[in-house]
Amino acid sequence: MKRVLLVLIGLVSVSLVSGVAMADKGKDSKYSTEDIMKKGFKGGLVAKVAKGEASEEDQKLVIEMLESLAKNPPHKGSEESWKEKTSALLAAAKGTVEGKEGADAKLKKAMNCKACHDTHK
Ligand code: HEC
Repeated sequence: MKRVLLVLIGLVSVSLVSGVAMADKGKDSKYSTEDIMKKGFKGGLVAKVAKGEASEEDQKLVIEMLESLAKNPPHKGSEESWKEKTSALLAAAKGTVEGKEGADAKLKKAMNCKACHDTHK
């Protein structure tokens, strides 16, 4: 009986691991692209940061999410274009949180949903 249980546990963990790999999540990235889209972009957290309305906690979360996004593989499209878009997002969000002049405008431009979805979604 114990053996059967162990085999079952083994099967479950294998399917969990492959589930993660399929969800567009990089090796040392904390959040999958799907999560980042749902919570950060659709949920409006990134927009809050761009408008300067995010709490310190939300700012941290958004930076963490964008760091993950840059580590995740693109769902579609070239690696090069993905790196360019995700690193622009991360740099602009960091700048905005640090209060750098013009960074919020850059962030608003970099978080263009359609421009990125057309190429990478
Ligand atoms: C830097 C690129 C990028 C930007 C900017 C971006 N997205 Fe996405 N988005 C993606 C990719 C890639 C996917 C596909 C993820 C997948 O299927 O794993 C996606 C998927 C989604 C999804 C579907 C998530 C799911 O349930 O699988 C939603 C909703 C979404 N994006 C909303 C938005 C909104 C709203 C914005 C703008 C405020 C936005 N995204 C900006 C890259 C981006």
